[in-house]
Amino acid sequence: MLPDLSTRRLLLRPRTMADLDACIAMDRDPEVTRFIPGPWADAQAHEAFVRNRVLRNWGPGLGYWSIFASAAPGCFLGWVLLLPVDGEKRGDGDEVEIGWRVVRAAWGLGYASEAALAVVAHAFDTLGLSRILAEIDPGNAGSIRVAEKIGMRRDGAVPTRAGDAVFVMTRDDLRRTRF
Ligand SMILES: CC(C)(COP(=O)(O)OP(=O)(O)OC[C@H]1O[C@@H](n2cnc3c(N)ncnc32)[C@H](O)[C@@H]1OP(=O)(O)O)[C@@H](O)C(=O)NCCC(=O)NCCS
Repeated sequence: MLPDLSTRRLLLRPRTMADLDACIAMDRDPEVTRFIPGPWADAQAHEAFVRNRVLRNWGPGLGYWSIFASAAPGCFLGWVLLLPVDGEKRGDGDEVEIGWRVVRAAWGLGYASEAALAVVAHAFDTLGLSRILAEIDPGNAGSIRVAEKIGMRRDGAVPTRAGDAVFVMTRDDLRRTRF
């Protein structure tokens, strides 16, 4: 079970089936999935994919949080994930990745960075992880900026999916971000 998280402007709640339609609608925007491979073009496969990822047990403290504005808690803004990296061994052991997705109408308001920082704090302070990764298409400038803003550093030494840039973050990096 994931904890609820909150920030200055946002509520992050464990993603549930109640968020399914909103997640699918967000993914149907081609600008949202522009840099993300997935079954977006096949409605049935897309729904099955999201359903599976909502219902799956990702391990203690890992999974997806849906983002809502504190001032409008019924309005879905996107999600942040904290998941095991593809079951592959990377670096010195099993790695955990962070990711983010926001509905296009809410881009550019700082929501992804604000929500991601709450999940980063959970990763280090609650789960005690030693580091987290983000794998980002090098053309996805907005996502790279989010990674940089929350204190992640590009690391060319970590093996990755072909073509992606890898960003890493440790607890010390978070201390610097919190200034
Ligand atoms: C990436 C994404 C989550 C960012 O969400 P957001 O809430 O707009 O992010 P933030 O407002 O916290 O920060 C975005 C930053 O990127 C910058 N940015 C956005 N688009 C940019 C672009 N094309 N080029 C350069 N910078 C860009 C913004 O100016 C902002 O930086 P700033 O605060 O220094 O001005 C959102 O665009 C999205 O959902 N994209 C589609 C899904 C996706 O690609 N997810 C990541 C997969 S790795």
